[in-house]
Amino acid sequence: MAALRVGVLTSSDTRAAGDAEDTSGKALIELAEARGWEVVAYHLLPDDAGRIAEALIQMADEDACDVVFTTGGTGIGPRDVLPETTLGVCDREVPGIGQVIRGESLAITDRAMLSRGTAGQRGRTLIINLPGSEKAVRESFGFVAGVLEHAAEMMAGGGHG
Ligand code: MTE
Repeated sequence: MAALRVGVLTSSDTRAAGDAEDTSGKALIELAEARGWEVVAYHLLPDDAGRIAEALIQMADEDACDVVFTTGGTGIGPRDVLPETTLGVCDREVPGIGQVIRGESLAITDRAMLSRGTAGQRGRTLIINLPGSEKAVRESFGFVAGVLEHAAEMMAGGGHG
């Protein structure tokens, strides 16, 4: 199949304000490109549900991304809004992805249970929440990347052949 079209969104008040570098978003871009996928959109936003929803919709409907990775905002802090904002723009949840990320991550750190990250489908776009640290991004990406080309085929109506 053709290379996946990928979008990346970082949700972080400090990084969006320029107080810290967005190493997590950059890591996602690097990891996707290393698989031969095309990163067609990148947003660095504060933890603002309205702006995040707008960017997610744009990446799905206008940029025609197959997969959108978000990083940050999955935890239980007062400004963490990614799971609910993701589900708010999706047609349906794909719960197994968040379950696998949490399950595999628990073997690395028990803090994984503090991430509420999920995934959802908006049309032919799969939106996947990852935690905010670069370390968590690199670990989590590795747990799910292998199924994403098949996921894109299925969202496009393909069978198992
Ligand atoms: N998952 C993995 N694989 N590795 C990690 O280091 N960090 C955890 C967790 N998930 C972590 C992880 C921590 S410390 C938190 S607080 C939650 O993700 C939520 O992170 P977020 O609020 O930045 O999204």
